[in-house]
Amino acid sequence: MKVIRTVYGIQNQKKKLHLHPLGFVPTMGALHEGHISLVNNATGECPLVVVSIYVNPTQFNDTEDLKNYPRTLSADLGKLGTVLRENDMVFTPDDKEIYPAADNRVFHFGNLDNVMEALYRPGHFNGVAKVVSRLFDIVQPDVAFFGLKDFQQIAVIRDLVRQKRYNVRIAGIPIVREPDGLAMSSRNRLLEPEIRKEAPVIYKTLSVASALIKDHDISYIKNFVTKTIEKSAGLSVEYFEIVADTQFIPVKTKKELKNGCRYYGCIAVKAGKIRLIDNIEFPLV
Ligand code: PAF
Repeated sequence: MKVIRTVYGIQNQKKKLHLHPLGFVPTMGALHEGHISLVNNATGECPLVVVSIYVNPTQFNDTEDLKNYPRTLSADLGKLGTVLRENDMVFTPDDKEIYPAADNRVFHFGNLDNVMEALYRPGHFNGVAKVVSRLFDIVQPDVAFFGLKDFQQIAVIRDLVRQKRYNVRIAGIPIVREPDGLAMSSRNRLLEPEIRKEAPVIYKTLSVASALIKDHDISYIKNFVTKTIEKSAGLSVEYFEIVADTQFIPVKTKKELKNGCRYYGCIAVKAGKIRLIDNIEFPLV
């Protein structure tokens, strides 16, 4: 694999190789098995893959979170070295390469701006849209791979692709979990040990709740999820919503559920100082 820092370097290398489809895996580093699964999916279908590692300041609405975000470049390159091939590239730009001038663009994503992550992380998706559109312009991929843990982010990116007419397919890749069920996340390593022990209750509770949808009201399920998780010391639920993957309008009553739609329970939990998100399908049949 080649490690490239500049836009010029990426574009030059692409021109030389001219291999398609070109797969792209954007990351913020601190790579774990979830990222490796994205990369493996990319190399499985694309003869050339670019992985970017860039901690994007514009998507952090909390300066402490940006400061504490794990940066582990040499370990990341070591991991990528075991899964990428000779021609594949790792793009490690600095801020000037991504934002040569102030980026004041404002994006609108309809209802996606009014629910779940958008309410708790104001400006976050605008920052994601800035960096992803910039990266798409630089890399010009045919397929881009994103983890389904960031469920709302994928919907935002699909909308960005539609609005900007990018000729790129967005592939959503299933969540990879720790053996105890906790969804893999770069932030897991920041959890205090006592809280890390409690964190698997999030997925366990979602799994139980997903089976309740047939026989229980939405308000009962929401109450069950919040109460069960908050029994664990240090965990507090920011939101838990059940949404269809097409609409992202939180379901309030069972009457709103439509056959043929796929519903997901989406959650954000404050685990000590660290914010964790997860989701699971709530099958209607
Ligand atoms: O999902 C992430 O890691 C980031 O939001 C992304 C897509 C790499 C943009 O910085």
